[in-house]
Amino acid sequence: MTNGAGVGIRRFSCLVRNVLFEMAMNLTNRTLGDIAATIPASTRVFLRNRLDFCCKGQRSTLSEACRERGLEAAAIADEITREAHQHSELEVWAQRSNADLVSHIIEHFHAGLRRDVPPLIEAAARVERVHANKDAVPSGLAAHLDILWRELSAHMAKEETILFPLLLAPDSGRAAAPVRRMLEEHESHGRALERTRDLTGDLEAPANACATWRALYDGLENLEAQLMEHVHLENNILFLRALEAS
Ligand SMILES: [Fe+2]
Ligand SMILES: [Fe+2]
Repeated sequence: MTNGAGVGIRRFSCLVRNVLFEMAMNLTNRTLGDIAATIPASTRVFLRNRLDFCCKGQRSTLSEACRERGLEAAAIADEITREAHQHSELEVWAQRSNADLVSHIIEHFHAGLRRDVPPLIEAAARVERVHANKDAVPSGLAAHLDILWRELSAHMAKEETILFPLLLAPDSGRAAAPVRRMLEEHESHGRALERTRDLTGDLEAPANACATWRALYDGLENLEAQLMEHVHLENNILFLRALEAS
């Protein structure tokens, strides 16, 4: 390596460090959706602290969201910075094309829902039947998940057959109206996740719960995390691009 090239690399590294430092300093004034789009590891912190970075991602800054949840914004910003250093390998989807995002959403998130939700509904029905006489039994969970699954199936079909092809067309600004409709449906998914927590005592299995019951709640927690990441990529990156272009 020539001396000039070495100096260039050092300057570039220094620039990257400065940008990261600036980002950490300004986190509390940025929206959760913006932070999640540019620092992928931040979503782990948001999930741990029950901060809504998907449906409400564009509505409040980290400061405002933390105040609402009784959390210290500076401590959460530090947690995000630490998580980002530990997981710098995570894909920054905000830097990828619409085509890459759509493929990833269909192949990872839509396929994951189609694989995981029907067995969760069966497990919920089994737990409700076998443990019907226990106080903590999640009565009505299977019926609730069944309704959510119908909504999700119809929603994914609309995205795959109508909206995503529009987003991949040269004039993606025409997608604004269907995007707004999908944003409303995402709000409904968010309410369904809250209802799931209400029905399951915040996904805490009782001490005497059987393995199926525990696996059901672990699966529902994973469903919640995956659905929030999924909606985040759509709301805060893919759909936001279409709205900004319209
Ligand atoms: Fe989707
Ligand atoms: Fe969606």
